[in-house]
Amino acid sequence: MRLESLSLQDFRNYASISLNFNPGLNIFVGDNAQGKTNLLEAIYVLALSKSYRAQRDPELIRQGADQALVSGQIRRLASMELGFLLSHTERKRLLVNQKAATASRFVGNLNIVLFSPDSLQLVKGTPSDRRRFLDIQICQIDPVYRKTLLEYQRVVRQRNSLLKSAQESRAHLSQLVVWDRQLISLGTEVMLRRQAVVDKLQRYTRDIHRQISQELENLHLIYQPFFADPEKGDLELWDSPEELKSMFMLQLQQLRREELRRGYTLAGPQRDDLLFLINGMDLRKYGSQGQQRSAVLACILAELELMQGETGEYPVVLLDDVMSELDQKRRIQLLSLLNDKAQTIVTTTNLGSFTAEIVQRAAVFNIRQGRIL
Ligand SMILES: Nc1ncnc2c1ncn2[C@@H]1O[C@H](COP(=O)(O)OP(=O)(O)O)[C@@H](O)[C@H]1O
Ligand SMILES: [Mg+2]
Repeated sequence: MRLESLSLQDFRNYASISLNFNPGLNIFVGDNAQGKTNLLEAIYVLALSKSYRAQRDPELIRQGADQALVSGQIRRLASMELGFLLSHTERKRLLVNQKAATASRFVGNLNIVLFSPDSLQLVKGTPSDRRRFLDIQICQIDPVYRKTLLEYQRVVRQRNSLLKSAQESRAHLSQLVVWDRQLISLGTEVMLRRQAVVDKLQRYTRDIHRQISQELENLHLIYQPFFADPEKGDLELWDSPEELKSMFMLQLQQLRREELRRGYTLAGPQRDDLLFLINGMDLRKYGSQGQQRSAVLACILAELELMQGETGEYPVVLLDDVMSELDQKRRIQLLSLLNDKAQTIVTTTNLGSFTAEIVQRAAVFNIRQGRIL
């Protein structure tokens, strides 16, 4: 899959730009605060219908402007135009071939994998970082999962407010049964899908990591459902969806008192996590920074293979300023593993992070103050 062109109007610090991409490697060079990340954010928005770094959509609109427009031409089997229109006064509009589309129809047309300095936090960061990493992938390849997850999150919010009001009056508790049933049924679907994806992702990650570490180390990625005890390491999962349902139900019973005391939902995949083991040891606790970085790199490259396996095409790879974060060895590994597989869009403050041979085959763009020179 390829992104052929992109145009931005009043998006972040861009007034108006249009550009065409190279099908292979694209390098955007610029000093800090010139608009490099903004450009990748615009591409991300076309893939996922929202930003990963704006608290609220209107932040994406250029200061002083009324509306922001992002549009891009993508090429899979056929060409397709995606549009994202945001204004201060009206609802966000998503467009596929210039026709209004629901988020379910919009997300999944352009598949991306984003690797930024924040990604390096995948191993060390919070469980929520790791769930997000997983959800962003699954949502792009599975519109049903995306819907189920959103619905599930809504149920958790409603159930939380019920638990809060039950602290004042127990009369509200009678409604809990209804929410429990939905929590279990949607939550189980979310977990089954996550587990199946991690199962595939883990095989790719293991193989790629063996290559990166020159066969010296064994990386194991494990899905940790919310009820898993991380101290116990590798655990038995469920044998059937029914078994998972009854495990979920049991957890809800056991946590009921605590949930009422705290006033929010404690059971469910909003508390899932991923565990990284390196030669059987918890990478988060015992790994060196270098080992953690190699693991992240392997995971990101595994994402590519996973998406290729699920959709038949490699996603577009966005690398935001990561070259300076990686040492020379990992830099070369990354670019050579990507080479010829996926269209890659890289930002950097310094072209010197690339070898002359790499620069030669890339399209190089200079960014200054929201302009492409
Ligand atoms: N809504 C907005 N309107 C105008 N400028 C913005 C907006 N949001 C961010 N910016 C500007 O964008 C610049 C940061 O761009 P960014 O892409 O993050 O830089 P970098 O090149 O370092 O990645 C800053 O100068 C910031 O003020
Ligand atoms: Mg940046």
